[in-house]
Formats: sequence, structure tokens, C-alpha cells
Amino acid sequence: MKHSLTTFLLALLLGASSCTASSDKTTTGKSEQNDTETVINNIMSRRSIRKFTPQTVSRDTLDRIIECGINAPNGMNAQNYEVKVVDDPKSAAYLSENLRGLYKAPVYLFIAANDEYDMAQIDCGLLSENICLAATAYGLGTINLGMPVRSMKEKYDILDKLGFSAHYNLCLIVALGFPDEAPKAKPRNKDKVQFVKVLGK
Ligand SMILES: Cc1cc2nc3c(=O)[nH]c(=O)nc-3n(C[C@H](O)[C@H](O)[C@H](O)COP(=O)(O)O)c2cc1C
Repeated sequence: MKHSLTTFLLALLLGASSCTASSDKTTTGKSEQNDTETVINNIMSRRSIRKFTPQTVSRDTLDRIIECGINAPNGMNAQNYEVKVVDDPKSAAYLSENLRGLYKAPVYLFIAANDEYDMAQIDCGLLSENICLAATAYGLGTINLGMPVRSMKEKYDILDKLGFSAHYNLCLIVALGFPDEAPKAKPRNKDKVQFVKVLGK
């Protein structure tokens, strides 16, 4: 009698625990699905922002975004880039007034590639995309800028003040801040990507 009662209680306990496990599994499944959708929506909703509000961005938020940036894949993890961040309001205003093609924003990230590594510009692009996606997750807007890089190369005094190390060439600027516009997605051509076979027909 004692034995059968123990067996019954054990079965009840196991049943309850398996029930808990299966309901946990369902919950985990749902939250994984939500996480996936959050990541996909973040990627698909990112747009280049050319109008920012004057609101500043906290250093804590910037630090987290930068951490995401430097966690991007990069060749041999040699981190062949340097990033100079300008969030001082006076400096940011000076830069937008003096560099052609630099939209007014509270924060600029100047990204330079090491010219001694042939893939360094790819590292910079990946770093930049991580920055842009992390910023989007915080409700911030970003834009990658190539045009002011060219105009900066004519203004050595500003470039000098950024203080990049020898062999590091400015290749990209990211402007960042709270968006003051919500542009629609520009069309993409899916034919640019094709599934191919290299063996058989
Ligand atoms: C390497 C690079 C350089 C860019 N340079 C500029 C630029 O100088 N001026 C500008 O307005 N947009 C610039 N853009 C932003 C692109 O125009 C924009 O990403 C593209 O039109 C797609 O729009 P979306 O980012 O909103 O999806 C640049 C983007 C990249 C990746």
C-alpha cells in the first residue's frame, strides 16, 4: 500500500514536472520567435536618416552601440580599424558647417581602415552596419556617409585633429542621432542575388 502510494506520488510529480517542462518549451518557442522577428524587423526597418533632432545621445547608449560595432566579424580579429567619436555639440556643429555632405547630427563616428591590410575596408563596413543596427534598436537614426570623406581629404586640418594613427585612412563617416524623418525603404533588386549550381545541370 505504502509502495503504491509512493509510486502514485512519484508519477504525479513526474507528470507535473513534464507538464511544466512542456509549457516552458512552448513559452521559450514563442519568445524565440519574437526574438527572431525583433531582429528581422530591426534589419528591415533601418533606413538612412538625413534629418536629426538636436537631442543629444547619452554616453551609456553610445558605449553600448560602439560595443556592438566592435563585435562585428573582422579579418583574423586583427581589428584593422580606428573609430573617432565626436559627440561634443560645438565640435559636431563645426564639422557639419565645414564639411560638404555632412548632415547636421549630434554624433559623428569617423571610421578609418588600416591600409596595410587589404580587407580592412570590409571590416569597417561590417563595424558600421553593427553600429547602425544597434542604433536602430535604440530608436536612433544613422547614415553612412562617403561624400564628406572626400571633402575631408581636402581639409587636412580637420582630419589631423581626429588624430588617426599612421596607416589609418578615413573611409566612412556615420552620422547618428534621433531621427526627424521617417523615409520609406528604397527598392532593392532581388535579381542581384542568384542561387547557382557549380556541379550538374
Ligand atoms: C558606403 C556608403 C556611402 C554612402 N554615402 C552617402 C553620402 O555621401 N550621402 C548620402 O546622402 N547617403 C550616403 N549613403 C547612404 C545611401 O545612399 C543609402 O544607404 C542607400 O540609398 C539605401 O538607402 P537606405 O540606407 O535608407 O536603405 C551611403 C551609404 C553607404 C553604404
